[in-house]
Amino acid sequence: MKVFVTRKIPQAGLEILREHFEIDVFEGDSPISREELVTRASDCDGLLSLLTDTIDSEVMDEIGVKAIANYAVGYDNIDITAATQRKIPVTNTPGVLTDATADLTFALILSISRRIVESDKYLREGRWTGWDPILLLGGDFVGKTLGIIGLGRIGTAVAKRAKGFGMNIIYTDHHKKSIENELSARWVTFEELIVNSDYITIHIPHTTDTHHLIGKEELSKMKSTAYLINTSRGKIINEIELIEALKNRQITGAGLDVFYEEPDFNPELAKLDNVVIVPHIGSASFETRNKMAVMAAENLVEALKGEIPENIVNPEIYD
Ligand code: DGY
Repeated sequence: MKVFVTRKIPQAGLEILREHFEIDVFEGDSPISREELVTRASDCDGLLSLLTDTIDSEVMDEIGVKAIANYAVGYDNIDITAATQRKIPVTNTPGVLTDATADLTFALILSISRRIVESDKYLREGRWTGWDPILLLGGDFVGKTLGIIGLGRIGTAVAKRAKGFGMNIIYTDHHKKSIENELSARWVTFEELIVNSDYITIHIPHTTDTHHLIGKEELSKMKSTAYLINTSRGKIINEIELIEALKNRQITGAGLDVFYEEPDFNPELAKLDNVVIVPHIGSASFETRNKMAVMAAENLVEALKGEIPENIVNPEIYD
C-alpha cells in the first residue's frame, strides 16, 4: 500500500509509515497546491494531511484514498460529511498538543497584557531614556477574571495555568463540566462571560455554529479593559470587526495565533500595538510535533489495516 504525506513531518512519524507502506512525501517549503496534492495522492491508499490542505468532496473523489489522517486536532480543513458518505475514515491528533497549546495561550495572555512585544520593540528602537513610573504599564492577573469559551482538553489546561496565577475562572460550554470544582471554575452563559471577563480565551472548534461567534456585538459588550485571545481557529472571530474594536480601543488588546485566511493575515493587524500576532504556533514544540507525527502515522496504519483507529473522527462509518 502507498500513502502520501502532504508535507515533511517529524521523522518519528515517517519511520512508522515506512515500516508499513511505500511513502511519498511533499518536500516543499510552503503548503502543497491542490493540483499537486491531487496528482501525487491519486495512486495512494492513504493520505496524511495538514490543516493547510483543503480536503473536500472533489479532492476525495479525485484521489480516491481509503483513509485520511489529519496532522492536527482540528479538522475543519476536511469535509467530514463527504468523507463519511464515502466511508473514508478520518482521524485527528487529540491530547498530545493540549499542554503546548495551553502554554502558548498563556504566553499570549502574558505578552499582550504585560506588553512584552511592544516593550521589546521600544528598547530595540533606542527609545528608552530610563526607568519611568508610568512606562509601558499593563494589566495584572491575580484576582482578574479569565473567561474560557470551551472547557475541553485545552480549555481545562488553560484553566489549570490560570489557577496558578490566582485568576477567577469562568467558562461557557454546552453543559457544566464535572472538573469545574477542581479548577475552581464557574459555568456562566456566553453572554455573562463576554460581559464579565477581563481576559477571554477561545478553545472550541470552528464549525458553522461557531463561525463569527465573536464580532461587533460581542466586542461592544466586552469590558474596555479586556483582552481577547485566540489559539483555536481564526474564523471564530470576525477579524475585520475585531480590528475596528482594537483601533477604537473598544477592548484593550488581543493575542492571536490564528487568522481568517492563513497564511495571509490582515495587514491592519500588524499596524496595531495592542495586538500580539504569531503564526499558528500553538502546538509548535519539538516534543509535541513529534507526538503528533507518531499519532497521525499510527492512526493511518490502523485505518488502512481495517481497524477502527483510536482517534477516529467519523466512527459512524463503521456502523
Ligand atoms: C491543531 O492541531 O488543530 C492546531 O491548530 C495546530 O496544531
